[in-house]
Amino acid sequence: MINDLWYKNAVVYCLSVESFMDADGDGFGDFKGLMRRLDYLQGLGVTTVWLMPFHPSPGRDHGYDVTDHYGVNPRYGSLGDFVEFTHAAKQRGMRVIIDLVINHTSDQHVWFQEARRSPKSRFRDWYVWSDKKPPNADEGMVFPGVQETTWTYDKVAKAYYFHRFYEFQPDLNTANPDVQAEILKIMGFWIELGVSGFRMDAVPFIISEKGPHVTKPIEHFGMLRAFREFVQWRQGDAVLLAEANILPEDDMKYFGDDGDRMHMVFNFQVNQTLFYALAAGDTRPLIKALNVTEPRPATGQWGMFLRNHDELDLGRLTEKQRQAVFDAFAPDPCMQLYHRGIRRRLAPMLAGDDRRLEMAYSLLFTLPGTPVLRYGDEIGMGDDLSLPERECARTAMQWSTEPHGGFTKAAKPGVPVIEGGPYGYEHVNVANQRRDPNSLLNWIERLIRMRKECPEFGWGDVTPLETGNTNVLALRYDWRNNAVLAIHNFAGKPCEIAFDPGPGGETPRLMNLLSDAHSDPGEDGLHRIVMEAFGYRWFRVGGLDYLLRRSDL
Ligand code: NOJ
Repeated sequence: MINDLWYKNAVVYCLSVESFMDADGDGFGDFKGLMRRLDYLQGLGVTTVWLMPFHPSPGRDHGYDVTDHYGVNPRYGSLGDFVEFTHAAKQRGMRVIIDLVINHTSDQHVWFQEARRSPKSRFRDWYVWSDKKPPNADEGMVFPGVQETTWTYDKVAKAYYFHRFYEFQPDLNTANPDVQAEILKIMGFWIELGVSGFRMDAVPFIISEKGPHVTKPIEHFGMLRAFREFVQWRQGDAVLLAEANILPEDDMKYFGDDGDRMHMVFNFQVNQTLFYALAAGDTRPLIKALNVTEPRPATGQWGMFLRNHDELDLGRLTEKQRQAVFDAFAPDPCMQLYHRGIRRRLAPMLAGDDRRLEMAYSLLFTLPGTPVLRYGDEIGMGDDLSLPERECARTAMQWSTEPHGGFTKAAKPGVPVIEGGPYGYEHVNVANQRRDPNSLLNWIERLIRMRKECPEFGWGDVTPLETGNTNVLALRYDWRNNAVLAIHNFAGKPCEIAFDPGPGGETPRLMNLLSDAHSDPGEDGLHRIVMEAFGYRWFRVGGLDYLLRRSDL
């Protein structure tokens, strides 16, 4: 059987240790607290936990400014606690992937401190320097409006250093073979401590040529193969998941024609067009994005997501489409960020409307790829727009109605907790939703269970079906002699669709996987379904004996 590529049918849950659960009472989450919540995650059906950076860090970019890639921030515990955690996850059959932030370090990292002190330092060439301010220093900022330049003068070094992100995150000179060797060593280290792979931060920047004379960055894709080879030799089933907001024409360069580069890449094209479809009810750009991102090697997989810990980046939409999303979901400029995105959580964007939330999650779990869920989204957590930039959507997990949402026993939490109002922990928390059979939490748990029983979504070939209605997305998945359909109505009004589901099994009936509303074709062979506003359907084509019909290859 060649279906042991675990990441093809995984359910990934992204969390920051700091915001999840504080067991030692200092007001910040820690590994001990996270360990106590592993049964919750297992019960939800999560198969893989993705940890955001937990390394020693001054914490000026939520841990993406690392000072020691081989350590654990003492606030969260020790390396010993980390290993206890990966062990506890393994005991529950869950895998752990961690963020690998090696495009840059913190300016407090000893490598940078050494490098700036002397041109003769062995670390000098680990960073990217220029004696004069490069002419393009005010271009290419990732955080426009907050970050003013990509080259900053360092008085100690008496030179400018390059930083793609904030000025406290100097870029590593990733072309330097010593830096490349160090990156491999870091990966090898964490693999020994029990991780199953890495979410690689900022991949296009890691492989880009860097320097004062670079006007058009050239990417060195060979580096991706070197990372992949190393990881796979060390541990056959370890994966690399790339954060790479790229154009479809470059997809195969990241996966590798022979599937020899990244195992997984986040699908930003689908993410952006999906939000446009949610805002405007128009599924055409989403269908286009699904079509153009369809080609990938057999071992390659897309990471699908709704919201993540960053702003919802809408930079790849047209001006008009982006404006439609802003108008619908972020009309107040304080909800927008970096001139291109939205910094809110999903639930407030969708005005807490259960029908829309259910539809959005149903969609996430039926897209062609592996779903990545963000902590707190399973209970519809909100945001705190009084916090700066992306911090508004990184508040503490809301566990119960106890003080500070049961996140900490500290008198004053170190991580902001949302209190009062419609999204406060008093209303939105795990304990309440656990007791309510109709809650978002219990509904997502049921969806995840069904998703796992439909490997077609993660493994299959996807074909959009013609429904005659641009508000509706109907996808068919084929895999091993089985087929499933996922249908979603993006409009706030009901409609009737008529469609040909394609070749069936023993019976022409479509079996509804979530309710009793099955569908039989009319005499013309077409299925006619009335979709309610924001309605969704999961169907199995050709009867429930599908497992008896599934082929081995
Ligand atoms: C991408 C991460 O997702 C983001 O949170 C971070 O600020 C930048 N990379 C810099 O590491």
